[in-house]
Amino acid sequence: MIRSKINELLSLESSLDKALVKGWVRTRRDSKSFSFIELNDGSCLKNLQIIAADTIENYEQIKTLSTGSSISVIGRMLESPGKSQKWELHATSIDIIGLATEIYPLQKKRHTDEFLRTMAHLRPRTNKYGATFRIRSELSFAIHQFFREKGFRYVHTPIITGSDCEGAGELFHVTAFDLGDIPKNAGSIDFSMDFFGKEANLTVSGQLSAEMFALALGDVYTFGPTFRAENSNTRRHAAEFWMVEPEMAFCDLDENMNLAEDFIKSLTSHILNQCSEDMELFAQFVDKGLMSRLENTLSGEFIRISYEDAVAIINQSGHEFEYELSFGKALQAEHERFLTEKHFDKPVIVYNYPKEISPFYMRLNDNDRTVAGMDVLLPTIGEIIGGSQREERMDILISRMEELGLNKQDYWWYIDSRRFGSVPHSGFGLGFERMMMFLTGISNIRDVIPFPRTPKSIDF
Ligand code: 4AD
Ligand code: MG
Repeated sequence: MIRSKINELLSLESSLDKALVKGWVRTRRDSKSFSFIELNDGSCLKNLQIIAADTIENYEQIKTLSTGSSISVIGRMLESPGKSQKWELHATSIDIIGLATEIYPLQKKRHTDEFLRTMAHLRPRTNKYGATFRIRSELSFAIHQFFREKGFRYVHTPIITGSDCEGAGELFHVTAFDLGDIPKNAGSIDFSMDFFGKEANLTVSGQLSAEMFALALGDVYTFGPTFRAENSNTRRHAAEFWMVEPEMAFCDLDENMNLAEDFIKSLTSHILNQCSEDMELFAQFVDKGLMSRLENTLSGEFIRISYEDAVAIINQSGHEFEYELSFGKALQAEHERFLTEKHFDKPVIVYNYPKEISPFYMRLNDNDRTVAGMDVLLPTIGEIIGGSQREERMDILISRMEELGLNKQDYWWYIDSRRFGSVPHSGFGLGFERMMMFLTGISNIRDVIPFPRTPKSIDF
């Protein structure tokens, strides 16, 4: 007999003589001649109510079933007389698959997020985290669908690289050296003896590789894990996170911003439409302002302002900030939140950043002071997207690399792409976990990724 998922059974149109379900016991209540079991199999938020009568062969054993145990049930799906559910399963047989032999740690209805982080192996079995990770799955699918419908090709960019895309030096090294016996040459590490014959690291962004494919296939995107050894213990930074990076040939900064805005709106409405039951949980229990914020994102256009205008607005606001801001300084989280939550009450795209705080690949503007970069800022999240038009002019690219002290040899292939049929092109990176935070109202990045990696924490 084929197993049915609980979400299928709960959406039945009429009763069913025989169904097989398997799942984990959430609770068991006994009355005189039968027991109620709330069963969840992860297919949806709702549990299936099982009625186990004392006429079942192994009823004595059923009465000992504790939270967390796994069972297999065959029975009849009948309309429930109870108010809280439409259907219930009247068991004809119940097999115990795996008992929860010790006290299951997640007994209570509500635990703190902090406690559940110490139980990252079990937390997806709770209502909130089950919902989070179903939405995460759906959001991944929505990303592929969005690009596929627009004719983009999906490129798998490498995880191990020999370059630092962002030039921020926040790299995790990859080596096959015996760490107790590292080959040295004149006092420094001899990477020519290492696996790749040169220094290697985990990628901080797939962009540079994606650019090569945009210059061949036109519109491409990459979507994969990225790694940053940023020692910042904040609620929106992880050492391992997923990034979505579209890259488009024959595309300028304006078109890039259009795509970014369209992308965020499209993902938001996809999740609102496809995950309404799970989203209801977040709207009710996690963040009361969630739905109005998401609707506000969908209605009307994002604000677009230059970096210089953003700085002026912030400095003239009369608002107290911890960090002072002037031309050439990066916007801090507090500034981003001021713009999106207080000043505009809207998503904001800030563009044309000073070149001194921008990576080498951003296209230099004619004023020689700013580059064609942009960040999309969202209420409660701050920066969700960073992107730019790319520097397609080889001479300017090279002089920017020199200015920033990059080793040109490491990027010879990147420079080569400007040598053969270079074209204007643009792209951006969206932080997948930050999008998850925005959509669910969950305020810590550790709670939207299955097993978070942050400084001093890799327990699972
Ligand atoms: O702004 P970033 O650093 O841009 C790039 O890496 C570009 N190469 C992308 C491109 O143009 N293809 O990172 C992009 C986004 C950020 O806006 C943020 O949402 C997310 O990635 N991000 C992080 N998310 C979680 N933890 C971290 N440590 C993150 N660092 C960046
Ligand atoms: Mg950025």
